[in-house]
Amino acid sequence: MRRSIIIDTDPGVDDALALVYALNCPAVELRAVTTVHGNVSVERSTRNALGLLELAGPDLDIPVARGAERPLNGLSRREADFVHGAEGLGETPVFAPRRAPDPRPAWQLIRDEVTAHPGEITLCAIGPLTNLALALAHAPKIARQVAGVVLMGGAVDVPGNITPQAEYNLWADPAAAAAVLSAAWPVTLVGLDVTTQVVCSREDFAQLAQQAPRVGGFLAQAAQFYIAFYEQAAGIPGCHLHDPSALIALSHPEYFRREAMALEVAQDGEARGRTRRASAGVGPQVEVLTGVDAAAVKRAFMLTLCAADRGPVPS
Ligand code: BDR
Ligand code: CA
Repeated sequence: MRRSIIIDTDPGVDDALALVYALNCPAVELRAVTTVHGNVSVERSTRNALGLLELAGPDLDIPVARGAERPLNGLSRREADFVHGAEGLGETPVFAPRRAPDPRPAWQLIRDEVTAHPGEITLCAIGPLTNLALALAHAPKIARQVAGVVLMGGAVDVPGNITPQAEYNLWADPAAAAAVLSAAWPVTLVGLDVTTQVVCSREDFAQLAQQAPRVGGFLAQAAQFYIAFYEQAAGIPGCHLHDPSALIALSHPEYFRREAMALEVAQDGEARGRTRRASAGVGPQVEVLTGVDAAAVKRAFMLTLCAADRGPVPS
């Protein structure tokens, strides 16, 4: 079944990999992109999203709507420029996109698409969850109208990455995360429990650049900074495929093991953004991915991205 999706994103190197995966995966129809603060400012994430779509899908006219510039409740921000580079895409030349963003704010585009196509749209959020929380606050009925919600975020049984306890996307806006995880819509959480098992090496990116010099070459160049961070900070021979794993959980759910549980998100202090199992019977159940066939995920990623220069399959 082909899934119609909206990606909410803060590109970011792994966001870029996920966007290009979504454009080129026949199981997914990318309807719209919304941008959010996170790895970089929302100005940069919007520019990067527009530039990436022009690079990887020049014949497509997928709307990109700019979203929230800060988390709910006036919480502090911390960009992940030390992971993704000052402009978000490593040390690649900065994009100057031809297209302008959609005039609507992100939450409104999400609301409009979901209400116009009830039961059809899956929201795939691979950044902080502010836009999804705002869409819910403005139009609570969308919770009953989406086909599903897939989130890259959280760390349930493993340590965090921005703090010892918290994963970056949930840390960046814990109030939004709590609202999204407790709404009455079907959520799949693709967290560090599985994404840290999927590693892509310098050799993999060299192969990508060779097979798809235009799009894959750009991504391989962007990934150099990201890989250098992981080699140094995590001591692994390559980088984690966080955001692409969320897309692959949509296109290939059979590669993952899952467990239903209710989750609590810590709101402040040292534990800010920590995701823990809630006591039995507290809150709606979330489908948490707890295991992964990492080799199969990487194979799907490489196969799809190595074909990126041929361009997206028309719908
Ligand atoms: C998440 O944090 C961001 O830096 C990445 O883009 C990904 O969405 C991983 O914790
Ligand atoms: Ca991201």
